[in-house]
Amino acid sequence: MWRFVQISDPHLASKRDGVWNNRFLCSMMPQVMDCLRRDLARLKPEFLLVTGDLASHRARKSIFAARDALDSLGFPYYPTGGNHDYYSMASRAWFLEAYENHLPTTNTVYSFVHKNIRFCVLDPWWVWDEGELMPFPDPETDKKQDTDLRDTRWALPPEQFVWLESVLDAFPKMPTCLAFHYPAMKVPTRLRRPDYNDAGALENGDLLVESLSKYPHVKAIFSGHVHTNAIVHRNGIAQIMTSALPEYPVQYREVRVYRDRMEIRTHSLSDPSFAQKSLIPGREYTMGEEQDRTAVIPLK
Ligand SMILES: [Fe+2]
Ligand SMILES: [Fe+2]
Repeated sequence: MWRFVQISDPHLASKRDGVWNNRFLCSMMPQVMDCLRRDLARLKPEFLLVTGDLASHRARKSIFAARDALDSLGFPYYPTGGNHDYYSMASRAWFLEAYENHLPTTNTVYSFVHKNIRFCVLDPWWVWDEGELMPFPDPETDKKQDTDLRDTRWALPPEQFVWLESVLDAFPKMPTCLAFHYPAMKVPTRLRRPDYNDAGALENGDLLVESLSKYPHVKAIFSGHVHTNAIVHRNGIAQIMTSALPEYPVQYREVRVYRDRMEIRTHSLSDPSFAQKSLIPGREYTMGEEQDRTAVIPLK
């Protein structure tokens, strides 16, 4: 057995506090990262998968400060960008520069193999009003992205479907996990409440999941963005959505990988005060139900 850890949406290097579904407290992230460092040292994962919204402040130096904070955890990690990382061509260039020692190639779309699992990291783009697919948001969408994502859309570009299929065709025997910021499957109805703030999903997520039905070796998709723990299953694929570190429940995923299965477990930090500070009573549902916190994914 070996293990990796998924953390998501750390929104580092920012002092911005606000409310998403619970209190969203970027200002507590230095202490959260100190606690996470101690907790991961005990767990000893082989690497971390960090599924986007790594930085939350727009200055170039903040992107590098976020990188330094992730480096300080002391484990190899693979970064993917989110809507707060890829908001301009300049920020995309900073991302590639900041994470050059963590990316297998100088590209935001990449694949790597760890022991018995292949990972494919994808980079969905923004969909503008007229349906154009762009690597950065239109100015109006960009202005309100800290507070309102209701009309904001993202989709996987056709070139990445082609790339993904070429990798999946070339290595049909190896169990494969995908990772990208926006989930391909939506947060399930059972977790939604009338006041649930939905950050959205990939506009062509259904198409992606359908196109994967000819690749039974694709076992799981790891995403963030919705700041909610949820696991849903479709066409033999588990969509794992993982909550944000600056927001209740302040948790991360441990993935234990065996020859024939992966087991997902969800952990709180050893210091419960961060989650308590963020929780708005009545909004505990972003922690997910038992089926959103524990899962066994067959690899055969
Ligand atoms: Fe986020
Ligand atoms: Fe996001």
